[in-house]
Amino acid sequence: MKGIVLAGGTATRLFPLTIVTNKHLLPIYDRPMIYYPIETLAGMGIREVMVIVGGKSVGDVVELLADGAHFGLDLTYRYQRGALGIAHAIGLARDFVGDDAFCCILGDNILRGPALADTAAEFEASDAGAGALLYQVPDPERFGVAELDADGRVVGFEEKPAQPKSDLIPIGVYFLRPDAFNVIDTLAPSGRGEFEITDVLNHYVPNGRLFSKVYEGHWADAGTVPSLLRAAELARDDDDAGRLAAPVERPVG
Ligand code: G1P
Repeated sequence: MKGIVLAGGTATRLFPLTIVTNKHLLPIYDRPMIYYPIETLAGMGIREVMVIVGGKSVGDVVELLADGAHFGLDLTYRYQRGALGIAHAIGLARDFVGDDAFCCILGDNILRGPALADTAAEFEASDAGAGALLYQVPDPERFGVAELDADGRVVGFEEKPAQPKSDLIPIGVYFLRPDAFNVIDTLAPSGRGEFEITDVLNHYVPNGRLFSKVYEGHWADAGTVPSLLRAAELARDDDDAGRLAAPVERPVG
């Protein structure tokens, strides 16, 4: 399985913190934000990762992560022009992905909990076309939101609905196959002018081709000031517990 980290976008919700720098370089407790999703992919046993960069200070992102050897990864980069959404950014990785299944993680998603190697393997062995990890939040209207049937199966996702149909959201960890690129080709931009990942996931709901699972660890994104603080607290608490934090490595050379 290959990995993709999305680290583009303009991060206007974090202004003035991100006027002159890239959101993914901001500190989350003891390390730069983008270390967390990189470590999450490494924890799945993934080795080949493409980082999609965009926005400010792209050179600093590359300098920080370098070739990825200090994470045990082999990193390559692509540049996303404009902030056209998650599905658009994933589309840039088509040649990199080739024929492999892949996991895409958003560069501002902080996961602290069990490694996801088993989940990745479960998706890869399944017939599903796409996989989403669900998480319960108090403010679902801020995210994509899952709609469930009486048996608890996902019957669709809505992006930032005014009236959420549940409090379960798909976090920014998506398992996909190369077929997703054909789906992305058919998408139209949403009302906010973005190609939405929830539209890609919805494509796989009919015929039971969506794999979904509630994430059993702790999760935060860091795209707004309150969530940035919450993510740092999550990282600190996790570190205090002395269980899950990975050692902070530095690039060599
Ligand atoms: C994005 C996705 C949304 C998902 C969220 C998780 O939201 O569009 O479906 O729940 O990431 O972090 P955005 O960061 O674009 O607001």
